[in-house]
Amino acid sequence: MNILEIIAKKRDKQELTKEEIEFFVTEYTKGTVTDYQAAALIMAIYLNGMNSRETTDLTMAMTCSGETLDLSSISDIVVDKHSTGGVGDKITIILMPIIASLEIPVAKMSGRGLGFTGGTVDKLESIPGYSASIPIEEFIENVKEIGISVIGQTMNLAPADKKMYALRDTISCVESMPLIASSIMSKKIAAGANKIVLEVTCGNGAFMKNKEDAIKLAEEMKEIGKLANKETVCVLTNMNEPIGKTIGNTLEIIEAVEALKGNMTEDIETIVTTIGAYIIKLSGNGDNLEENKLKIMENINNKKAYNKFLELVKKQGGDISFIEDMEKFEKAKYIVPVISKNNGYVSELNALTVGKISVNLGAGRMKKEDGIDNAVGIMLNKKIGDKVEKRRYLSLYTCK
Ligand code: URA
Repeated sequence: MNILEIIAKKRDKQELTKEEIEFFVTEYTKGTVTDYQAAALIMAIYLNGMNSRETTDLTMAMTCSGETLDLSSISDIVVDKHSTGGVGDKITIILMPIIASLEIPVAKMSGRGLGFTGGTVDKLESIPGYSASIPIEEFIENVKEIGISVIGQTMNLAPADKKMYALRDTISCVESMPLIASSIMSKKIAAGANKIVLEVTCGNGAFMKNKEDAIKLAEEMKEIGKLANKETVCVLTNMNEPIGKTIGNTLEIIEAVEALKGNMTEDIETIVTTIGAYIIKLSGNGDNLEENKLKIMENINNKKAYNKFLELVKKQGGDISFIEDMEKFEKAKYIVPVISKNNGYVSELNALTVGKISVNLGAGRMKKEDGIDNAVGIMLNKKIGDKVEKRRYLSLYTCK
């Protein structure tokens, strides 16, 4: 088989066979297909799409490019959660300790920032000492010991996705339905959970800009989940404005910790309780979604969720004194206020624009090998619908 013929076939809008897809994924993982050949094929997929059969074959090939975890020693039912990506999305950081505090095991493999969206791993690693790259054995051990571990994608789990994910980010090929569905589902299947809850973001700050596309992506992923024998639930969330009030790694950790102490914006509370209620249901711990929401709020109010987050950070090498005294986090050198020119109400807060500004400030990567500036970001003083007064703050940019 020849990679040039495979690229040409997709370039010419033809369907790829299972064998061709497997060949590409295997050889790219090994390194015999180069980054520039992979970039050409990915661009052809981006432009010409894939049908459901090709997307499923791509997912399975990516899953099989590395190990598949067996989490049965942790529990019969392990639920995983993933977001399709957004701006200011710190839901995993808030929700996973809540779930673990309800004694539902959390074995979570998260991603780094992609395009204009942030990544849970980058955010967690802004806590000094926190390591998201621990060996798989330690990951499983931590879940058994304290009920939770959140790590980044290891080289052994869906390594093809790790390479393709980073490459797509640098060649403007992120917003593609088959590439997103296969990226997420390959990781989720390899990570070993048997139930999956997906936060499918929708709006200008998401990869799916409208509801129809978000539903299509959700259906595609549900179908792949079914084929892999994993019950999959998708929750559509609004990404026409950033989630919460902060964008940027350290700023989002601070907001997540505040949320775990009970201080959160309405949108965060709605998303956390809705997705959390499904996770509790899928894990077999309560069929009534409204009651599940109450269990979540109870464990925020009694500090069990916050304490679980401290345990997680400590277990993964993080310095919890930063969480206990958040003034210790490094601050950006400059703070630039954005002032309202008029009296009125906020009618639009474009999450895409905010995400791009945040990447330009240094909170995200322009190139695969770029570092990240944890301290920079944006603090929103107002959200859509809020009243603003002339010459008052709309938001603050923090930069270096
Ligand atoms: N999240 C992923 O893991 N992959 C994508 O392609 C997009 C969001």
